[in-house]
Amino acid sequence: MTKKIAIYPGSFDPVTNGHLDMIERGLRLFDGLIVAILHNPAKTKALFSVEERMEMLREIFRDKPNVEVDSHSGLLVDYAEKKQASAILRGLRAVSDFEYEFQMALMNRRLNRKVQTVFLMTGLQWIFTSSSIVKEAATFGGDVKSMVPPLVNEKLRERFSKNG
Ligand code: PNS
Repeated sequence: MTKKIAIYPGSFDPVTNGHLDMIERGLRLFDGLIVAILHNPAKTKALFSVEERMEMLREIFRDKPNVEVDSHSGLLVDYAEKKQASAILRGLRAVSDFEYEFQMALMNRRLNRKVQTVFLMTGLQWIFTSSSIVKEAATFGGDVKSMVPPLVNEKLRERFSKNG
């Protein structure tokens, strides 16, 4: 039987507990997930390099053989086709995500009709968690440990104690 694989794409700068929740739930729908770091042209200033983000993700999912971590520098739908994935998984938080996600899903569908976008509602606990807000709080010394995996918390602390 062919395995149902989905791509879970994003910037993951850095990965948050909201992302982990989405991945866990995605694994109940798909046989495997490819967590893929792609370039979001709207996000011009990254905190962690793609290699650093990949390293963190690989460490976090070290014991999950059905989660692959990868990166791609082109179009998401081309990557999905290359990886023979039938779906793109995205999380929806509050209303504010909707327009952007809707636009992106329709564009991806126009570019390649074979790949379906599947949305899951973010768990209520993570509805206000985003990489951007985590980075902003961490920049000013805020405690974000309840919002990110322990490894990410460590890396954020290292980063800001070095620069601060
Ligand atoms: O975590 P993000 O920043 O919301 O993720 C957005 C991302 C990286 C998935 C999106 O920008 C993306 O798919 N970038 C690759 C280029 C692409 O295919 N764009 C969508 C159609 S134009």
